[in-house]
Amino acid sequence: MKMYLRLMKYPGSKTVMLPEIKRIFSLSRSNMLIDVFGGSGLVSLNLRAEKTVYNDIDVKLINIFTTIQTNPLLIKSMLYEILKFVGAEDRNRVSFHEWLLGKNLHNNRSELDLIESIYQYTTGFGGMGSTYATRNEKSKATFISKILGNFWEIQQAVHSWTIENLDFRKLFEKYLSSEAFFYLDPPYSERAWYNYNLTRNDYLDLKSILFNLDCPYLMNADFMDRELVGIFGKPEFIRRYVNENGKPGRVNDRIKAFYTNIPGAGENLSKT
Ligand SMILES: C[S@@+](CC[C@H](N)C(=O)[O-])C[C@H]1O[C@@H](n2cnc3c(N)ncnc32)[C@H](O)[C@@H]1O
Repeated sequence: MKMYLRLMKYPGSKTVMLPEIKRIFSLSRSNMLIDVFGGSGLVSLNLRAEKTVYNDIDVKLINIFTTIQTNPLLIKSMLYEILKFVGAEDRNRVSFHEWLLGKNLHNNRSELDLIESIYQYTTGFGGMGSTYATRNEKSKATFISKILGNFWEIQQAVHSWTIENLDFRKLFEKYLSSEAFFYLDPPYSERAWYNYNLTRNDYLDLKSILFNLDCPYLMNADFMDRELVGIFGKPEFIRRYVNENGKPGRVNDRIKAFYTNIPGAGENLSKT
């Protein structure tokens, strides 16, 4: 399996779909990716567009990515501290917060918040670990060591991004006249996985923006997300992905719905 750059364990991360997203991005002939609901940054990190605009409404994510741009060594040293903590977690018997305070590692509030967000996002799906866990999850230490091993490449990629912290409506207003390709991976309607989720009215606003958009776009959603599929209607095409985290013997594949205005994007694939 191809190795991708990853910085976080994030619910709804799009690793299996990256080849499809890349294919459609190149069909769009755009050189500018706008990752409207950027999340862990997986798509922005791996599409390698000439220009990338990463956006998310969650300020914790924005702080991580902007600090990678302005002070990558601080982020790297924080990852080493987290690695030290998780490596001895069973013996520590204290929470990460208590451990940090005990070590007196960061005495300013914004650094403490930053390292705690990095800890949450690299070890437990942004704090949603209790509601979202996968069976064959690699150990925390292995995951963080991998990030450190790829940190230079991650830093290089993030360095050239434009980072925005806008609600999606404002982001579209700002970039509407650009030559952009908009990629959208909105929060699922049925699961409160993120610090920010969308309401029915938000989905309706998103639909009216997309269906009147002149720029190329691609939106993916879970085909089983009845509310979202009910609002957006029949997708351009669907794809089935084998769920490698599912219980053995149980058919537990994920079916993804793709909405796009790019001609030919669904050719040779299952139409609904
Ligand atoms: C499904 S996740 C994106 C996952 C991402 N594609 C990845 O691979 O990691 C949806 C993201 O939308 C963000 N979000 C929620 N409401 C938003 C809004 N109104 N405007 C912009 N982003 C929003 C959430 O903070 C969350 O990170």
